[in-house]
Amino acid sequence: MASFRIAVLGGDGIGPEVIDQAVRVAQAAASKFDAAELHWNKLPWSSAYYQEHGRMLPADGWDTLAKHDAILFGAVGNPAVVSDKITVHELLLPMRRKFDQYVNMRPAYLFDGVPCPLVGKKPGDIDMLVYRENTEGEYAPVGGKLYPGTDREVAIQNAVFTRGGCERILRAGFEAARKRPRKKLTSITKSNALIYGLTLWDDAYNAVRKDYPDVQSNSLLVDAAAMDFVRKPEAFDVVVASNLFGDILTDLSAAVAGSIGLASSANINPTKAYPSMFEPVHGSAPDIAGRGVANPLAAILSAALMLDHLELAAGATAVRKAVAAVLKSGRVSTADVGGTATTVQVGDAVLAAV
Ligand code: NAI
Ligand code: MG
Repeated sequence: MASFRIAVLGGDGIGPEVIDQAVRVAQAAASKFDAAELHWNKLPWSSAYYQEHGRMLPADGWDTLAKHDAILFGAVGNPAVVSDKITVHELLLPMRRKFDQYVNMRPAYLFDGVPCPLVGKKPGDIDMLVYRENTEGEYAPVGGKLYPGTDREVAIQNAVFTRGGCERILRAGFEAARKRPRKKLTSITKSNALIYGLTLWDDAYNAVRKDYPDVQSNSLLVDAAAMDFVRKPEAFDVVVASNLFGDILTDLSAAVAGSIGLASSANINPTKAYPSMFEPVHGSAPDIAGRGVANPLAAILSAALMLDHLELAAGATAVRKAVAAVLKSGRVSTADVGGTATTVQVGDAVLAAV
């Protein structure tokens, strides 16, 4: 029997609430459809851990994580208590870089039964896959502050674009596009204004696209892309974007596809040299935390992406089918998609469908 070690970091706020449901569902699907055993190692690293220990994870924390086959992550962030400069910048973003999880894959799909904020869209009309660069770009922690706290204060925030970094995310996007029925790809740029980093991005795009004559591709400025995500989201198939642009566009793609509570993501190291990490797109949602009303489907769909990565394809498909069935029936859903059910009730319904 295949067996896998999964590190589970629920984190803060609704993170642990939704991850508990993802664990139950993934466990059942992997066992029933792939005869695989998943061993879950729950790790308490969060704002509460920081308050107690003065750090987000222990000194050997990265080594501990590296020993797992995958990481299932909820969200971190409790800005009322611990600055995002610590939670996000000492755990989440370094993880993506340390484990070279350069592909941040974020699907957006309009499920049957989910109210769409756009008029006249049918289930499946929105079916896009955003590949966000995850290890450099605008989120590279390169820069500094001079004369902080004075009236001469200066902040320098650099964006780092490397030829290799741009090419590898674009290539991953083209590979994904090639396997999808529409075989389309859009490269997101802003080289009209950001004339160094984003022209390098465009050069990489123009070089890589030559290797994929079977994929129909275009380049689009990020502001126009934001408009088209709303105006005609059905035009997009695979979308490849830098770290910042991909981050912003995927909250938008999640919203047009019904709710951020449905948006899943995978942070993948395609070489498998280090574990990949799977997490909902949303954050810790302090506004609804502790009430048991968060939508667990984004976390559950992220666990399905994890099963894909572990090559437990039957289980992954079963989870997605179960989620689609629950949404379609419309009987058990959380408030963000128009229902009144709790997080656990939605988890129960998906588990029953699996
Ligand atoms: P957020 O994604 O946590 O919440 C935005 C809005 O969406 C809120 O109104 C929230 O109630 C709603 N929402 C989010 N997930 C939901 C779900 N599963 N079901 C129903 N409604 C849901 O973003 P926000 O409020 O800007 O950030 C809160 C904290 O999370 C901050 O500390 C931020 O830095 C952190 N954060 C962490 C991320 C991570 O760990 N990957 C990602 C994004 C934010
Ligand atoms: Mg985001």
